[in-house]
Amino acid sequence: MMKKLKLAVFISGRGSNMRSIVQACAEADFPAEVSVVVSNNPDAAGLDFAKENGLACVVVDHKSFHGKAAFENAIYDALQDYDIDLICLAGFMRILSADFIARWPANSIINIHPSLLPDYKGLDTHQRAIDDGRDQGGCSVHYVTPEVDGGDVILQRVVPILPDDDADSLAERVLPEEHIAYPEAIRLIAAS
Ligand code: GAR
Repeated sequence: MMKKLKLAVFISGRGSNMRSIVQACAEADFPAEVSVVVSNNPDAAGLDFAKENGLACVVVDHKSFHGKAAFENAIYDALQDYDIDLICLAGFMRILSADFIARWPANSIINIHPSLLPDYKGLDTHQRAIDDGRDQGGCSVHYVTPEVDGGDVILQRVVPILPDDDADSLAERVLPEEHIAYPEAIRLIAAS
């Protein structure tokens, strides 16, 4: 098997997508391994799972920096220890600057977003899809570019929006699809 991609997984909270990536990496034939988990939130619940699973964790609390550049420089510096091939944003709720993105090779940062991009970039995706009367929602894994949620889509998974759905019930139905989509996207990238 080819050398596994070394991943840095960025989280801000619950970390269920990070967990799905870690679980996929436990499969012998999965073409990637998690080298480090990065959180901007010292209280992110996902950090507990990462630590329990023996993963290196780096906390860079954006609140303790003056400005985005200093925050991002600290992340960049911390990652220099890990020889990272791919950064996976997994519920990472900070917008990365064009300068940070430019410091990495092209297409080496990806994100999961809870909508069928290019529809519903940004926040409150499920509520906005329901309010618009859409009959389909879903998730997208995409490359990260300076345009927020605007990079090329790697793959999407679709779920129906049911007449009784609210944002919570739709999110609950989309999340398991996210957990399938993210490892699958990493497989596609490794194979490309
Ligand atoms: C996920 O639904 C992810 O798609 C979304 O946050 C949630 C994080 O859950 N990301 C965004 O909205 C990014 N704009 P998790 O922490 O359990 O993976």
